[in-house]
Amino acid sequence: MFELREVSRVFGRKAAVDSVSFAVPSGQMVGVIGRSGAGKSTLMRMLNRLTDPTSGSIVFDGLEVSALRGSALRRWHRDCAMIFQQFNLVPRLDVLTNVMLGRLNYRSTTMSVLGLFTREERIMAIAALERLGIEQTALQPAGTLSGGQQQRVAIARALMQQPKVLLADEPIASLDPMNAKIVMDALRDINEREGITVITNLHTLDTARAYCQRIIGMAGGRVVFDGTPADLTTEAVNRIYGADGAIDETMTSTSINPVPAYKPAAAGALMPAVN
Ligand SMILES: Nc1ncnc2c1ncn2[C@@H]1O[C@H](COP(=O)(O)OP(=O)(O)O)[C@@H](O)[C@H]1O
Ligand SMILES: [Mg+2]
Repeated sequence: MFELREVSRVFGRKAAVDSVSFAVPSGQMVGVIGRSGAGKSTLMRMLNRLTDPTSGSIVFDGLEVSALRGSALRRWHRDCAMIFQQFNLVPRLDVLTNVMLGRLNYRSTTMSVLGLFTREERIMAIAALERLGIEQTALQPAGTLSGGQQQRVAIARALMQQPKVLLADEPIASLDPMNAKIVMDALRDINEREGITVITNLHTLDTARAYCQRIIGMAGGRVVFDGTPADLTTEAVNRIYGADGAIDETMTSTSINPVPAYKPAAAGALMPAVN
């Protein structure tokens, strides 16, 4: 369970995130939507502690995330994986090494600096790549892959962390529709099979509707909607995006082919990572 209590982040005199409170039960797949500048990325970065809140508290399973320091913060960066719009891989390193870097917070700095990975870590990395259908790219420099493949490498790296939570900041904003679907399907699969909580910022409404059991809408740093896709009426959409005709094609267009609506995972589904 993730609990946010009146979380704010101020830059200068402007509150990028303004007194946000909500709770996310473990295993939920949540989509966060809103206009550019609404505070989505800042909120996500605070959950991962890439950004510190100015005030308020963030608690995960009783752990006060917003107060962590030193090795406890390092452990949190391991438990809370994050993927980004621009993938954040090391382009000149091969794909396998990029994936193994997901183990960084599990090992000594010396071992990491020397690039020494164990046989188990290699096997684990190859299994993660196989699961995402890109094992054939293992020895290529990550920078030579297509965007869709690079995002799948980033997901494989996140899986190597064996995280409790997976955060994704606009993971498909740079991808074509086919790759967007592959990446969203992979996030859903991780949510359903491992029961990992997934919280993702999304720039298209239809993707949030199709993949997320819960949608949080932000405007001006505040939560202005929190409900199911079915609750997301035209009135609610106007509250999130503004009723001034600001809803343009990029927000509502079908960026992904229709997919079945969210189905809760079977209770206790903890399957081995086999594709
Ligand atoms: N590091 C920063 N310094 C100053 N202002 C920032 C910083 N990060 C974000 N902001 C501001 O906070 C607001 C919310 O930004 P952001 O969280 O990136 O929104 P979104 O991801 O919804 O587009 C914006 O007005 C943005 O300019
Ligand atoms: Mg953003």
